[in-house]
Amino acid sequence: MDGFELNKIAGAVLTAMLVIASGKTVMDIGFQKHKPEKAGWALPVTEVKAKTAEPEAAFDAKAVVALLPKANADNGLDVFKKCMACHTPDKGGRNLVGPNLWGVVGRKIATAPGFNYSDAMKGHPGTWTWEELAKYLHGPTQAVPGTRMQFPGVKDNTDLADLLAYMRKLGDTPAPLPQ
Ligand code: HEC
Repeated sequence: MDGFELNKIAGAVLTAMLVIASGKTVMDIGFQKHKPEKAGWALPVTEVKAKTAEPEAAFDAKAVVALLPKANADNGLDVFKKCMACHTPDKGGRNLVGPNLWGVVGRKIATAPGFNYSDAMKGHPGTWTWEELAKYLHGPTQAVPGTRMQFPGVKDNTDLADLLAYMRKLGDTPAPLPQ
């Protein structure tokens, strides 16, 4: 056999294989009784749910207040640094964009002397209990719709409890802890 013969044989074999293979495919398609459940291979991939797609869990102010007795006021001071752009914490401190916060825990809402509150805040009844503070500082505009405090809120419950533990010190006597 010369090279040309070999090529012809190889060509014939390849052609035969091609015909068989494509014939099998045609038969597969033709005789397939039911479609596979899913197209392609089932790869072992676990679906990761996008975090942002989940609705924010309902905020539980009582759960934050429950953390307060063991909260870390030093970390709370760190959290409070965000507030200092608008609030002074010291006794007799000035009102800035927001009112001075000395003695705010347990104080009647919207009563820092000389501060011009929004109508929303003036219309919000009651005093700053731990729970009211937790709600307002978690989501200011949700707790007091129309408030002028431009702050997104402290979303981490531990940080929020720590912040309250720090604010507890802003008074002549520390505000009583929750029972
Ligand atoms: C961008 C400025 C700004 C920042 C930041 C800010 N606040 Fe305020 N805050 C305000 C303003 C303005 C008001 C008055 C709101 C109103 O009248 O509606 C206010 C009101 C309050 C009140 C109610 C006081 C009262 O006398 O009734 C509390 C409590 C308070 N802020 C705490 C905080 C804490 C704690 C932080 C940080 C976690 C913070 N704020 C961050 C501007 C700010």
